[in-house]
Amino acid sequence: MMIGCLHNLPRVSLGHSPTPIDEMLNLSRELSKDEGELRLLIKRDDCTGLAFGGNKVRQLEFYLGEAVTNGADTILITGAVQSNFVRLAAAAARNTGMECHIQLEERVNNPSLLYRSSGNVLVDKLLGATLHSFPEGEEEQGADRNLEEIAQTLRAEGKNPYIIHLGAGHPPLGALGYVVAAQEIMTQAAKSNVTIDEIVVGSGSGATHAGLLFGLRALGSFIPVKGICVRRTKDLQHQRIVNHCQAIANLLQMGNPVRNDEVEISDDQLAPGYGQLNDAVFEAMQMAAHHEGLILDPVYTGRSMAGFIQRARETDQQKTLLFIHTGGQPAIFAYEADLGPLLGN
Ligand SMILES: Cc1ncc(COP(=O)(O)O)c(C=O)c1O
Repeated sequence: MMIGCLHNLPRVSLGHSPTPIDEMLNLSRELSKDEGELRLLIKRDDCTGLAFGGNKVRQLEFYLGEAVTNGADTILITGAVQSNFVRLAAAAARNTGMECHIQLEERVNNPSLLYRSSGNVLVDKLLGATLHSFPEGEEEQGADRNLEEIAQTLRAEGKNPYIIHLGAGHPPLGALGYVVAAQEIMTQAAKSNVTIDEIVVGSGSGATHAGLLFGLRALGSFIPVKGICVRRTKDLQHQRIVNHCQAIANLLQMGNPVRNDEVEISDDQLAPGYGQLNDAVFEAMQMAAHHEGLILDPVYTGRSMAGFIQRARETDQQKTLLFIHTGGQPAIFAYEADLGPLLGN
């Protein structure tokens, strides 16, 4: 089914899809109050293939599509020190024959040495990205301005950089990757005759959350999509998703099928803040590992799984819940200082 002009927009192929939707049988058993009450499913978007995979691979297909159309030779992006997005942007740039400049923002207080050198940072370096540092982690517009300055320097050197802007006010092109994913989920559910009652997904920049919600509604599906805040409180995030949905409609040259009251957000798992572990996140990481052999990360998927487990515990009827595993695993090695002591190191 066509969704606006989605299939006419420039896109490069970077990832493996469709990603599988698997049953989490042990976790379903563990969290069901009565036998067979819960059916917990997981969409393995950590298996999108490129450089350890993750949700950003789908998003980058549209950014890189535009970059190639513009004749760019360098990708420029900003993110947290342990950002998965910048790691995957560097890989996508290499895969498309480009260079990559990365601005790393100091969003986490008192990080360990490994936080700065291992996990995603190590992969960024292996991919040969040029790293820049931005000291004000929560100053989104400042980070954007600084990125523009790096772009000016690159232009002065004769390069043609393409900036992946993530700040509010820039079109959320990457969200289109999750409009595509919504189509994929609907097709998979129809093929396997599964009725999904609710989807739970991490909500950071909001591109994944907004794209999924938009795609489902555009296809006539009313499956609720619960966004779990990983960075901002729910009021801020609600407005962000509402704005993104309108911006997606503009990109696709169609009406916005998402009503504001359909944007569901929880920030119950957010404290003490971005990139910091709490008890529920650690419990979720352990439950996924112990019951399913699944590896989650402490920043995004541990948090969103904590939200998913909360939803499962609240549910007292027969329900099928789908968790979107958005990747992020390389970060566990950078969080050794936090995770190690909890695991007996
Ligand atoms: C592993 C992982 N999951 C979820 C998210 C959140 O996705 P979005 O920024 O599209 O809201 C991110 C963002 O960087 C991520 O790296």
